[in-house]
Amino acid sequence: MKKRTVIITGANSGIGKAATLQFAKEGYTVIMACRNIEKSEKVHKDIIEATQNRNVELMKLDASSFQSIHQFCEEFKKRYETLDILIHNAAYFNHGAKYCVSDDGIEMTFNTNVVGPYLITCLLLDQLKKSDDARILNAGSNIIKHFFDPKKKIEFSNLQGENNDPKYSVYKMYCQSKMALMLLTFKMADEFKNHGIKVNALQINGATMSKETLQKVTLRYRLIARVQNRFFRPPSYMANNYYEICTSENYKDTTGKLFNDKLEIMEAAPKQPQGFIHDIKQVTGSSLYPYYADDPTMTNEVWEFCERVTGKSIDDYLNSYKEIENEKVETVK
Ligand SMILES: NC(=O)c1ccc[n+]([C@@H]2O[C@H](COP(=O)([O-])OP(=O)(O)OC[C@H]3O[C@@H](n4cnc5c(N)ncnc54)[C@H](OP(=O)(O)O)[C@@H]3O)[C@@H](O)[C@H]2O)c1
Repeated sequence: MKKRTVIITGANSGIGKAATLQFAKEGYTVIMACRNIEKSEKVHKDIIEATQNRNVELMKLDASSFQSIHQFCEEFKKRYETLDILIHNAAYFNHGAKYCVSDDGIEMTFNTNVVGPYLITCLLLDQLKKSDDARILNAGSNIIKHFFDPKKKIEFSNLQGENNDPKYSVYKMYCQSKMALMLLTFKMADEFKNHGIKVNALQINGATMSKETLQKVTLRYRLIARVQNRFFRPPSYMANNYYEICTSENYKDTTGKLFNDKLEIMEAAPKQPQGFIHDIKQVTGSSLYPYYADDPTMTNEVWEFCERVTGKSIDDYLNSYKEIENEKVETVK
């Protein structure tokens, strides 16, 4: 059987670690893309030992740093011809932390959770294009339900060091970043339609958080998360959803969709309010996502923001690939 290659960002803990274990067990070549190599080495070793799969590789990737992303992608391209599955699992959610920017001057949450995945995808497009069944999966969150409130919006004016929102919180920005990631999911799915690359997202509604993850948030959030943890499923449950979406024949042609935790495909809520009962149902249920995620104006804003700050346009990559393909055809003729 042809060995398929998967990159999982943030693979050293939680859902990413559980997914690495599952893909490794199934014989995939797995790239654990982690920012802290020292910390991740033990996890890497344990997974190889547990699965006896030697094709699990640990590579350094800091999704909040353009330089690290470029280095990672260059290194990957040198070693691997093809990429079959790309899972954007890593996320910054240090709730309670102060406003801070990445080395590239972008608010840390938005950089890690949105701009990072955009740039990684851009730089790995050629490798994805070479797969006969390329699938990208974005880790979403049910926090986007806040966008059922029509007043909620992504605050583009506070993403580049402005620190101009007295009510700024990582929690609020995390919510905006996960909405932006949905907008990217749908836009990328559309852009890649004719290139055989499928792009979907999973709305995660909770997975038990490790002690280490809880240490990243302030005491107040830690206490809340400890209570939530009692009701959450283990990370392996969501990891199995990652695995299904990225490997099952059932989803071979599925693209531009948001899945809920039961692997049902969610639909956009109507733009106009439908009345109190309906509104309550959409907030408490798991079949609808806020209309905002489908709004073309917002999609363009996120897309243009990513293009501008990274200096990379996905269109250029798709077109340059087309040119390479055309040149190949010409040469063969
Ligand atoms: N658990 C939940 O209840 C829940 C709910 C909704 C959505 N989600 C989503 O599920 C995904 C996985 O979360 P989890 O619960 O498994 O949390 P987790 O255990 O804390 O995993 C997050 C991973 O992301 C990595 N990471 C953070 N910043 C990074 C960066 N700049 N570059 C590379 N890696 C980075 C972390 O690395 P370090 O170990 O080095 O920090 C860690 O490996 C995230 O996208 C999260 O938003 C989770």
